[in-house]
Amino acid sequence: MCGIIGAIAKNNVVPVLLQGLQRLEYRGYDSAGLATIDNNKLQRIRSIGRVADLARQSSTACGYIGIAHTRWATHGEPSERNAHPHLSGNLIAVVHNGIIENYEELRMQLTTQGFLFTSDTDSEVIAHLIHSHYSRGNSLLAATQTAIGQLTGAYAIGVMAADNSNQIICARKGSPLLLGLGTDGHYIASDLSALLPITNNILYLQDGDVAEVSLSGYQIFDANGNTVERAVNICKLHSSKAELGEYRHYMQKEIHEQPQALINTLEGVCNSQALVPGIFGADAARIFPQIEKILILACGTSHHAGMVARYWLEEIAGISCTVEIASEYRYRVSVPDPGSLVLTISQSGETADTLAALNHAKDLGHTHTLSICNVPESALTRLSGLHFLTHAGPEIGVASTKAFTTQLAALFILTLILAKQRGGLDSKEEYNYLHALRHLPTAVDSVLKLAPDIARIAERFSDKRHALFLGRGLHYPIALEGALKLKEISYIHAEAYPAGELKHGPLALVDKEMPVIAVAPNDTLLAKLKSNLQEVRARGGELYVFADAGTRFHSGDGLHLIQMPEHAGYLSPILHTIALQLLAYYVALQKGTDVDKPRNLAKSVTVE
Ligand code: AGP
Repeated sequence: MCGIIGAIAKNNVVPVLLQGLQRLEYRGYDSAGLATIDNNKLQRIRSIGRVADLARQSSTACGYIGIAHTRWATHGEPSERNAHPHLSGNLIAVVHNGIIENYEELRMQLTTQGFLFTSDTDSEVIAHLIHSHYSRGNSLLAATQTAIGQLTGAYAIGVMAADNSNQIICARKGSPLLLGLGTDGHYIASDLSALLPITNNILYLQDGDVAEVSLSGYQIFDANGNTVERAVNICKLHSSKAELGEYRHYMQKEIHEQPQALINTLEGVCNSQALVPGIFGADAARIFPQIEKILILACGTSHHAGMVARYWLEEIAGISCTVEIASEYRYRVSVPDPGSLVLTISQSGETADTLAALNHAKDLGHTHTLSICNVPESALTRLSGLHFLTHAGPEIGVASTKAFTTQLAALFILTLILAKQRGGLDSKEEYNYLHALRHLPTAVDSVLKLAPDIARIAERFSDKRHALFLGRGLHYPIALEGALKLKEISYIHAEAYPAGELKHGPLALVDKEMPVIAVAPNDTLLAKLKSNLQEVRARGGELYVFADAGTRFHSGDGLHLIQMPEHAGYLSPILHTIALQLLAYYVALQKGTDVDKPRNLAKSVTVE
């Protein structure tokens, strides 16, 4: 999705802007641009290609103030004329993330006033709207405040005026924006990663905030125009954490970071002798006993984590659980149940559909809310009464990997705590589960050692156009996740089914051209799964079986075996996921796709 960086500093800001844009590339984009003010003149450079192309075009650009943007097209095709910053009359420059819903109406009004539109975007109206107020003698701050009052939709914006090289005005509603406070300058950005090499002093703007940023300081105003203070956070992340190091792709690095990500996420639990609700927030001990049901809302991979959790919550904690795709829930007429805990799951904490679903649930009268999220201070954590932070570290690859497995770890802890509170977990079981959690990073490490075997199997997919993933029970969502990973980064069409559904339709697809990937844990459904796989073999389907120790699968006769190191019981989905992440990664290498930035996709989906 779109990314913003802006700077006002003692030195030429162009290198900082370009470096920031490079660090925002992982979010997905199709064009990029920057604008600076030099001698009271706006200079703008835009490029349809990569940030590297923009950098080449910007070699002579200069200015002590500037704004820059990576664009992920929503309104208007990816093209130079639609790239940001948008200018109005060579006086106002604007970068915008989000969607302006009433842009058509505003565009008509502004056209009548004589403003000339040069793009197909919704964002350009913001530049002209601010210009129209600025030219009536308002300050840049007042002009921006009046303009955003006329906008319907979501925005994070950065604004400059050619005749005012001392200020950047920025504002947010529904899209994230933060300020970075450095020693040589002040910065704005839509994403922390853009600022990591520059400063660790970060201030998160809240919804409705407008900020006036200058070299000497900043001032923040809330939605009512009152001056407000927002806390400055000392961010503990270091830019080196987001570098590639020995790896070829961020996705590969992030797959291999999973043992550490799990250690970090489980730290508070594994270092204690017992499970306590306090890790979900101070109020959890009071709220959890009141919970009768759980409603999980999420999108994509995070939704798959919720699907796994449903099996755990119902089986181990005995608590009824529904899992719903956030974009469906938010528009569906549903029956509210105030006894439910509304649990949202998100890597970014900025996914527009998940945020809207949570707000919708609250509007319906749900008061108990919990989020599991990887980004501190994200909109989702602020909207939720309780929250648990996964400590996966920054996830740059568009395909989610370590965020998913740490979400699963968090959801398993939640399950155990609820089971304990409901009397469904005796101290021996608690001890055993804690032991299994402590062992998890080691078990994950053993799966990662299968990488060379999985890479060899992946070679067989280089000419494939379709794939079918099968799993049963707790591992059906893992089959879904495996298929999602494969389609996202290798562009192979992949579907996932509960293995028992095979004969109800998808078996018709099976022939020797159709690789069938089976998730085969050594659990109570193994015999059933084996019968389903026979159905595939009988139709000439080629099987790729990820089988736990003791499952007695043998390679040969159309069956390719990946022997998993152990069976991890209820935690088995985490191990099987990692094997499937590796499969998707190596197939994508075979296909030569852009692994970290797959076409058409964005890291954080901050628009509907
Ligand atoms: C996963 O590989 C995806 N790129 C995508 O499905 C993602 O999980 C989804 O957009 C939800 O994102 P979130 O976890 O940041 O809310």
